[in-house]
Amino acid sequence: MVKLQAIRAHNASLKSLAPGLVGVFVGGTSGIALSTALAFARHASSPKIYLIGRSQSAADNAIASMKTINPSAQPTFLQTDISLLKNIDTVCAKITSKEKRLNLLFMTPGYMTMKGREETAEGLDRKFVLHYYARMRFVTNLLPLLSAAAQSEPNLSRVVSVLDPHVSVRVGGAGKLNFADLSLKDTFTLNTCGAHASLMGNFFLEGMAQRHVNTSFVHAYPSGVATGLMRDIPLVPLLIPVLKILLRPFMVPIEESGERHLFAATSERFPPKAHGEGSDVTVGSDGTKGSGCYWLSWDGQAFPQNAKLDRTRGEGAVEKVLQHTEEVFKQVCEEGKTYP
Ligand SMILES: NC(=O)c1ccc[n+]([C@@H]2O[C@H](COP(=O)([O-])OP(=O)(O)OC[C@H]3O[C@@H](n4cnc5c(N)ncnc54)[C@H](OP(=O)(O)O)[C@@H]3O)[C@@H](O)[C@H]2O)c1
Ligand SMILES: *[C@@H]1O[C@H](CO)[C@@H](O)[C@H](O)[C@H]1NC(C)=O
Ligand SMILES: *[C@@H]1O[C@H](CO)[C@@H](O)[C@H](O)[C@H]1NC(C)=O
Repeated sequence: MVKLQAIRAHNASLKSLAPGLVGVFVGGTSGIALSTALAFARHASSPKIYLIGRSQSAADNAIASMKTINPSAQPTFLQTDISLLKNIDTVCAKITSKEKRLNLLFMTPGYMTMKGREETAEGLDRKFVLHYYARMRFVTNLLPLLSAAAQSEPNLSRVVSVLDPHVSVRVGGAGKLNFADLSLKDTFTLNTCGAHASLMGNFFLEGMAQRHVNTSFVHAYPSGVATGLMRDIPLVPLLIPVLKILLRPFMVPIEESGERHLFAATSERFPPKAHGEGSDVTVGSDGTKGSGCYWLSWDGQAFPQNAKLDRTRGEGAVEKVLQHTEEVFKQVCEEGKTYP
């Protein structure tokens, strides 16, 4: 475990970097991304902060807090519903027109639900889009800005996706992808959706880290954090006081979670592949130290190698997931069709 004290010391050192780090926080109106954006505002000097979400009132509150925490921070809210990929293209074009570089792309969008497949106008499942396709579309669109950041000072260039790299192998899960139906058009269950979103995020980011060697890619598990995540589940609001007491030993306080995720987003322990040497560097997802892709647990340590995930990688997961995702983006975003 990386001790909270070490994390706070690292975060405090961000002030000594050149001013003007630029961060985009997708899902930044609430929960873990908001807490991380507030930590970023607290520790960076004159940071530019883009929050992406739907709720104007939540964004207004977030921006007011940031300006109080750090008057030199420059927060902006970009309101959009990212369950449609075409909206992501619009919002990314806006960012690209304003910024020449991007140091941090931090993503948490999602929600919990008991409902089955819910198709969007683009033919994909809504929850799956928020947990996977939307995030990877942001990566694809913003990579030119991330690459530009790697060539200037401060040279931080990082993508962080917060979900759970190991959900597919916990409690007896097989860690397998159904390559014949990656988008789960015909084989959707909530379980397979959780597994596919996690595994496809794992392998897409691993493929990106091999190709874009000056940017690093993190997939992080937050553990339990009390946020608004379960607001849409029936009865949960009534049970919250009881759940809070029962789950307290397993929960990470929201402010600590923000500091820990800012560490994952900025520490030199997680360098891009081109700078993967150094004594403190973490072992990457494929077992190579400093590979540029890191699957982290809540405490800042990499998950141990897992034989089931290694087997799925051995089945060509990186190439197959990249190819499928490019095909979805081509059909939906370029050709304006529904998928498939
Ligand atoms: N919290 C936990 O204990 C926990 C545990 C394991 C994994 N996770 C995963 O970690 C991630 C972050 O969780 P969290 O607890 O921070 O969640 P949260 O508090 O519910 O925040 C989710 C964010 O996603 C945004 N969002 C949802 N639908 C959207 C849409 N259609 N368009 C644009 N933005 C949308 C929301 O903003 P608006 O409402 O403004 O749209 C909100 O800011 C989730 O993917 C979750 O599955 C969380
Ligand atoms: C960033 O610059 C520092 C020196 O200023 C260097 O040590 C480090 O390797 C560079 N990192 C990347 C990712 O280019
Ligand atoms: C990485 O950076 C180096 C030098 O800074 C540059 O020559 C190279 O083209 C970059 N590679 C990619 C894939 O962007």
